[in-house]
Amino acid sequence: MLRSVLLGALLAAPAMSQIILDTDSGFFGDDGVALTMLLRSNHAKDLIGITVVSGNVWSNDGVGYMKRTAKLLGKPKLPVLAGSASPLVHTPALRRRETGIEFDGAFGLPLPKTYPPAGGIDFLIRTIDANPHRVTILAIGPLTNLATALRNRPDIATKIESVVIMGGNVHAPGNASKAAEFNFWFDPEAAQLVLRSAIPKKLLFPLDVCNNAHLTKTLFDRVVDAKTPITDLYREDFGNRYPGFLKNPKAESFLWDELATAGLLNPKLVTRTESAWLDIDTNFGPRYGAVKLLDKSPIPETTPTTVVLDMDFPKVFESYLAALTVRQ
Ligand code: BDR
Ligand code: CA
Repeated sequence: MLRSVLLGALLAAPAMSQIILDTDSGFFGDDGVALTMLLRSNHAKDLIGITVVSGNVWSNDGVGYMKRTAKLLGKPKLPVLAGSASPLVHTPALRRRETGIEFDGAFGLPLPKTYPPAGGIDFLIRTIDANPHRVTILAIGPLTNLATALRNRPDIATKIESVVIMGGNVHAPGNASKAAEFNFWFDPEAAQLVLRSAIPKKLLFPLDVCNNAHLTKTLFDRVVDAKTPITDLYREDFGNRYPGFLKNPKAESFLWDELATAGLLNPKLVTRTESAWLDIDTNFGPRYGAVKLLDKSPIPETTPTTVVLDMDFPKVFESYLAALTVRQ
């Protein structure tokens, strides 16, 4: 009996490396759903910390939002650490010189009044150092934290097991600008540094795949019907903020960070990929932050990126709903 219970537990939770969630969480949003999916999965114990980066909002606010969500999910002691406060090069002043930007996240918000210590960068470096080839970073915001860790300690690149990224648009149009996806546009130089790095495995969930995962009022209603503290946050954010289903039932959005999370938790959900050499346009102009698809490696140490192009969407939505509607 004990043997079969243990066997069942092992099958339910295959061995995985330690996970660090690197997020630009706003009030709740897709980053909040991603954390909910992680902490309500068989891999909850593998999540050893959260590093927060500026993107949707400035990182000091993101820390508060992530701490609140982690607490509601029963993990008040999970480390939540601020990383970089600002992108490597992009600034609010530069952003004011850009036109045609559809969403500018923190750049459209007042600057932070205080800056918490950027312990997240040290946390990334220390954890990777102490667990070589055993750390996966789920990066669902701009890549500033990882890029800064790689700048401070270039040797850790090959010690990372893998990085799973939501960002970029390879064959599809952008969503921050016509050319670029938000996470990569917010910090193009960081995205370039990570994509050019020697990290052994890079799995990218770009807009190409996210554009096929529609978030509709019907799905929203199914979640909020659960009426839990988590779905109350979900209702407030997706209902009254973005995309505002309570104000406009015809509003529509997409699953972004949730796809990367679902793909990490269950790789079988990924049904089509391509291996590509990717780089980022860092020329300041209309294509700032756009992905460049190359026919060869941009620099000798670069490893290729596996680009996710299709997923088993019915199963993805099943896991999304299951994670969000648990009553606890
Ligand atoms: C990405 O930008 C952020 O606003 C979302 O959280 C997601 O990570 C989508 O382009
Ligand atoms: Ca995000």
